[in-house]
Amino acid sequence: MFLNNCWYIAAWSLDIEHALVARTILNKNLVLYRQQNGVVAILEDACPHRKLPLSKGRLLGDIVECGYHGLQFDCSGNCVLAPTQSSIPTQARVRTYPVLEKYGFVWVWMGDPANADESKIFDIPNFENPAWGKTDGGVLEIACHYLWVTDNLLDPSHVAWVHQSSFGGPGTGDTPLQIKTFDDGVVVSRWIYNQALPPYYAPLVKFDGNCDRLQHYEVRTPSVCINRSIFTPIGTGGQEAELDEKAYVMVSYNFLTPVDENTTAYYWLQHYNNDPHDTAIAKQLNDGAIMAFNEDRGILEAVHIGMKNMTTPKLDLGLDAGSLRYRKILDRAITKEQAG
Ligand code: FES
Ligand SMILES: [Fe+2]
Repeated sequence: MFLNNCWYIAAWSLDIEHALVARTILNKNLVLYRQQNGVVAILEDACPHRKLPLSKGRLLGDIVECGYHGLQFDCSGNCVLAPTQSSIPTQARVRTYPVLEKYGFVWVWMGDPANADESKIFDIPNFENPAWGKTDGGVLEIACHYLWVTDNLLDPSHVAWVHQSSFGGPGTGDTPLQIKTFDDGVVVSRWIYNQALPPYYAPLVKFDGNCDRLQHYEVRTPSVCINRSIFTPIGTGGQEAELDEKAYVMVSYNFLTPVDENTTAYYWLQHYNNDPHDTAIAKQLNDGAIMAFNEDRGILEAVHIGMKNMTTPKLDLGLDAGSLRYRKILDRAITKEQAG
């Protein structure tokens, strides 16, 4: 059901301070805290005695004290004190998880710690480029299986119906789609030529009139979803064309962390090639994204419930080709991981 040997976002870095925070990821309960040296620790959120979540206990310096009978654990999961015992029981240990911080997020490695490797975190090009702007991003909990969200983020057509006041626009409902498959993901994309700008982007671009528009929807394992949009003066768009100097590029990064089979934590940020210091634009973009992602949330939560009903008929459309391919690629990776 889940791919374990990869990095998932556990939290926004800003949300983890010197305090115990509980999170569920891939059905596993974790406790996070920032140590006094600034490094984040992640432990299984269960005391080995009576499985009280350690997040219900206390943080004493960098030591986590269970709130039931006071067993104490350090950041490597070793028990360092057992006040009710004459000595520390040998089985008194909790699992720890590899953790690192990048792009403003806390990432956790959910698989074999021996395989944890920083280079496997998804690369965000231009992240340090001062000419690019970013939104503060956010996180949204969606009550649906994460693959309904990856489906949605490989589906450029839904904007024509779900996001009419933001991302939708002429050509988004019926322009043919191209699909490109990789070992670890899928890109569904299309160029739409000589159309009016959609409402979300119209105030941002630096040219007048109609545009050529790229919708590039990409998902990589386990659930990294990249939504790249280009708006460029008419006549300058196209797969083979070089990027015009007036082109507006926005990349929306959407990182999905499965909480369990029925819940997804959806983290995002937007990254764009102009107005790097304009906080009003960054806020306007983020507010627009929150509104649009809540539109998706309403749809996806209802789809999650609807698709559990096996008595009504179900069909796939041509627009599902990319997401069905992605599900196969992920399935293959999960099967391979489970086979060891
Ligand atoms: S449940 Fe933690 S010490 Fe008893
Ligand atoms: Fe959407």
